[in-house]
Amino acid sequence: MLEHPSHLNPEASRTRELRQQHFKAHLSLSLRMFSPNGGSSQHKEPLMAQPHLQALVAEDLIKTYPGGRGKPQVRALDGLSFTAEAGTIFGLLGPNGAGKSTTAKILSTLSRADSGTALVAGVDVARHPDRVRRTIGFVAQKPVSDPTATGRENLVLAGRLQGMPARDARVRASDLLDRFSLTDASDRLVKTYSGGMARKLDVAIGLMHRPQVLFLDEPTTGLDPEARSEMWAELEAMARIEQMTVLLTTHYLDEADRLANRLAIVDHGRVVAHGTPNELKDGLRGDSVIVELAPDARPESALSAMANVAGLRELTADGRTVRARADAGRSALPRVLAALEDAALQVASATVARPSLDDVYLQHTGRTFAAGQKSPILSSESEENAA
Ligand SMILES: Nc1ncnc2c1ncn2[C@@H]1O[C@H](COP(=O)(O)OP(=O)(O)OP(=O)(O)O)[C@@H](O)[C@H]1O
Ligand SMILES: [Mg+2]
Repeated sequence: MLEHPSHLNPEASRTRELRQQHFKAHLSLSLRMFSPNGGSSQHKEPLMAQPHLQALVAEDLIKTYPGGRGKPQVRALDGLSFTAEAGTIFGLLGPNGAGKSTTAKILSTLSRADSGTALVAGVDVARHPDRVRRTIGFVAQKPVSDPTATGRENLVLAGRLQGMPARDARVRASDLLDRFSLTDASDRLVKTYSGGMARKLDVAIGLMHRPQVLFLDEPTTGLDPEARSEMWAELEAMARIEQMTVLLTTHYLDEADRLANRLAIVDHGRVVAHGTPNELKDGLRGDSVIVELAPDARPESALSAMANVAGLRELTADGRTVRARADAGRSALPRVLAALEDAALQVASATVARPSLDDVYLQHTGRTFAAGQKSPILSSESEENAA
């Protein structure tokens, strides 16, 4: 029997297929580099005219690391897949160790997957790492700037390393310093910068050579709330002005909610949910009922008491916080409080809220975001009690 060569190597065939599929995206991205139009899109609107084009594709990525000292291997990525449209901010949201940095490193050619396919602007990262490197910027989770040089010197050096002529590098550096409100500090040594200023400089360094795709690994981790919201504003403006695709990894729910056009929630090396922040939240029916128990009240007893309340479902307890979903939270809350009182359980506070990304995370992983990789302390279902 005659066989097409692709049958002999289905993985190579799949890669070819994906590359053909994304060739147009690459072409469009290249042409966009020469477009005189500045970005004028509203926040969270895809920045490109053809938002269906995919700038990033991760398909069934698997990555294991040696465990070390006779320990078992760590399966950092366990079949992770997602696609990000050109000109959008795509968020990878997940707790510590979920596999976010590993994914960013594979897509940016800093690490190799054991198997699976990773494409940037239609180019296979494993086959053409040099081509991919020319199109991307990478802002690592850890600081990259030289603390003993000034902000301006760091930027110019980064530009020169990327092959920019000296004059272009100086002009671009001034432009970015201005954009990130660092002009006043531009000639000071970076070691005198605040955490927020240093982080903004890291982002500016990643932008020097006008990448088509920027990888931002936890841009605001460790920043105080004021510096974080300043950074968010700068990142929003930056994505608009530069018209590029951004892969943002974060373990802040509010950051993903605010910045990402679309996001994938990553847990244990897999995508457990994806969509726009609103789609993910809308996928949850009803309100969250959150009860904070008094210190001497046992969560197990609260779960049993609440299991008998009509209209409640998806009961979980995390420490002394007991959560449930209810179609009509306001009317369920008095019944919850009455049930807890009947069981002689004291309540510190009780709230009803619209679904948050935290609820989405809980729904897909069975744990709250704060609990991260920890197992849920208690969990119970009361589906049968749903009205
Ligand atoms: N070089 C390495 N050697 C061994 N294990 C590694 C290495 N890099 C990552 N890992 C492991 O792979 C898993 C995924 O790590 P990764 O850094 O991708 O997670 P992350 O989602 O970025 O977490 P964080 O939010 O803490 O940055 C973790 O269990 C981590 O310990
Ligand atoms: Mg990380």
